[in-house]
Amino acid sequence: MNKLLEQIKSDAKKANKTIVLPEGNDERVIRAAEIITKEKLAKVILIGNAEEIKKICPSVNLDGIKIVDHKSIDISTYANKLYELRKDKGMTLDEAKELLKKEMYFGVMLVKMGEADGLVGGACHSTGDMLRPGLQIVKTAPGIKTVSSCFIMICPEKKYGDEGVLVFADCAVNVMPDAQQLADIALSSAESAKAIAGTTPRVAMLSFSTKGSAKHECASKVIEATELVKKANPTLQVDGELQLDSAIVPSVAQLKCKESKVAGKANVLIFPDLQSGNIGYKLVERLANAEAIGPICQGFNKPLNDLSRGCSIEDVVNVTAITALQAK
Ligand code: ACO
Repeated sequence: MNKLLEQIKSDAKKANKTIVLPEGNDERVIRAAEIITKEKLAKVILIGNAEEIKKICPSVNLDGIKIVDHKSIDISTYANKLYELRKDKGMTLDEAKELLKKEMYFGVMLVKMGEADGLVGGACHSTGDMLRPGLQIVKTAPGIKTVSSCFIMICPEKKYGDEGVLVFADCAVNVMPDAQQLADIALSSAESAKAIAGTTPRVAMLSFSTKGSAKHECASKVIEATELVKKANPTLQVDGELQLDSAIVPSVAQLKCKESKVAGKANVLIFPDLQSGNIGYKLVERLANAEAIGPICQGFNKPLNDLSRGCSIEDVVNVTAITALQAK
């Protein structure tokens, strides 16, 4: 196992947190719940019906896993709380009850009400359906306006980043971030790089232009975001706008932006929008055979994480360990 993942798992065990897995109707999630419990990475609450779960996965050992069947318990306390939280947005009590029939809303309410420390979902829900309840109910951490996401990329090619480890963002949430949102993404990603990857962040704000080599409003947005990051955190090592090769290849950085302290050795890559971020991480994962851990959500008031629908059992286990770590 990768050294970083080993460290994350060891720290997660020590944290001893309770994580909700709302998709108890998905075989990968059920299998992952068994592994997480066996390895003591977290205490698991699996949402679903015990008989159904056994039908999907007859050989699974459910010892130590708390199973909550949200369709057969009294949900009035949760419904009242959800109604209180969302009535100003026009939600009625009946609508709150209806929403709580959805496992994702129910799971997020368990986190909101302190019955769990975090949630991992998205194995069979779109990113939107997974994140919307969190955005509406758990909301952002104090001082943060934008929830975003990052991937920790573990690349076989060790010469880039920190021995092949890089943080990519935002690859899953904000479709067209403006300069302020892009700055928020960079600041949160620097924090994630420290907290999860255990590294000192060197943040590159990516573009198709390096230091004014091309003039376009897309590059101007990246320049503005870089300035906002510097203003918000003057001690953070950040530079932009940089092309990808200027950001990670020392010889290119030497040619194009010699003075930069980040260029050529960046370990946190901030993409200008979701199209480039999402395509970028998948290219590196597939063509460079990198391990992509995430997406890891950043900026929520309590940790909620979204899986890709193509996730493996191992992905569910790894993201749960990260969520436990974020809950510390
Ligand atoms: N940060 C903080 N709050 C937010 C954010 C954000 N990034 N986005 C929305 N919100 C808040 C809104 O302010 C609103 O709050 P309120 O209801 O209390 O006023 C609430 O969340 C809902 O806002 P909507 O605009 O209705 O949210 P919407 O559902 O339209 O969008 C979403 C949010 C789902 C995350 C959207 O940005 C999205 O679809 N992103 C793309 C997801 C995607 O398809 N990713 C690619 C695949 S992922 C992968 O491949 C790994």
